[in-house]
Amino acid sequence: EADERTERIESALAELGDDVVILGHNYQREEIVEHADFIGDSYQLSKEAAQSDADYVIFGGVTFMAESADIITDDDQSVILPSMEASCPMAGMAEALQVDAAWAELTAALDADEEIIPITYMNSYADLKAFCAEQGGLVCTSSNAHKAFEYAFERGDKVLFLPDKHLGENTAHRLGMADETVEWDPWDVDGTDAADAVENDIILWEGYCQVHERFREHHIESIREDYPDANVIVHPECRREVVEAADVAGSTSTICESIAEADPGDTWAIGTEIHLTHHLQRWHPEVNVVPLCGEACMDCNAMRQIDPNYLAWVLEELVEGRERNVIEVAPEEKELAQVAMDRMLEI
Ligand code: 13P
Ligand code: SF4
Repeated sequence: EADERTERIESALAELGDDVVILGHNYQREEIVEHADFIGDSYQLSKEAAQSDADYVIFGGVTFMAESADIITDDDQSVILPSMEASCPMAGMAEALQVDAAWAELTAALDADEEIIPITYMNSYADLKAFCAEQGGLVCTSSNAHKAFEYAFERGDKVLFLPDKHLGENTAHRLGMADETVEWDPWDVDGTDAADAVENDIILWEGYCQVHERFREHHIESIREDYPDANVIVHPECRREVVEAADVAGSTSTICESIAEADPGDTWAIGTEIHLTHHLQRWHPEVNVVPLCGEACMDCNAMRQIDPNYLAWVLEELVEGRERNVIEVAPEEKELAQVAMDRMLEI
């Protein structure tokens, strides 16, 4: 079945030629990345999409990534997501509608002369990016979150960081602001209320990635027992104590670079989505690449929705002249979301 599917994909690609570019996020399964023209992190892939002349950008990734690609590509390019079910749960934890209501509560609790700036992680929907732009805020990735905070503190007194509380907390530590940071869930009646939250300079939205939250300190302890010389690298979506116990924290591209530069025979334990760990084992057999939590390491259920059969289907439909699963951000949102992304590019 796999061979037949590969044949279907390859023959559709041969018909479509330069009309199509396939992007594969680092977390996609092997049967997708083997067809990808580019493999990378979410932000790199959007840039590849923008640089390509292809009419159709097939995105092996999740909805927010395809939206970002649609925002930065030309209007005559279509971005296609092989499955409409591929939605990152963390992005869904901060819907613009909810954030809008919470924002009103938070700003009402501020002193008259105080200003708060929202920052949203790339892992969010276009309407939230647009909201941040309207409020003077910006987008960041896991590699430039600290710079986004600096941008915000040059222009305001406080930051609301969305949706990932762990990336927010890890960044606050990096900036030496951990003591001025609070988690705030507007719907938790027993939790911190808005009036107390705004006593702090950094307010963290209650979002997280269920894949990265699974990693715990004891996983690092047992790796260090099994491999005393191991280097431990984790994604900054991991809990604070995990990032602290690791040797390095970085985006999926930083993880890839670290393994590419490793000396043969070195051991690297990886704390991120399991498909990337498996790719790194295949790409760098000279390095001993191990998953940080062994067999218990998880795959991302959103990324997993991109089944190679769906890839074959969207390509064959294009051959027949039918565009399926096009991801299109509404024009007014697109413009504003672009502003929030451009601010990130300036930092
Ligand atoms: P990167 O931007 O580092 O590729 O991460 C995306 C993601 O979804 C991490 O969970
Ligand atoms: Fe979202 Fe986590 Fe999956 Fe990344 S790994 S797409 S943050 S759920």
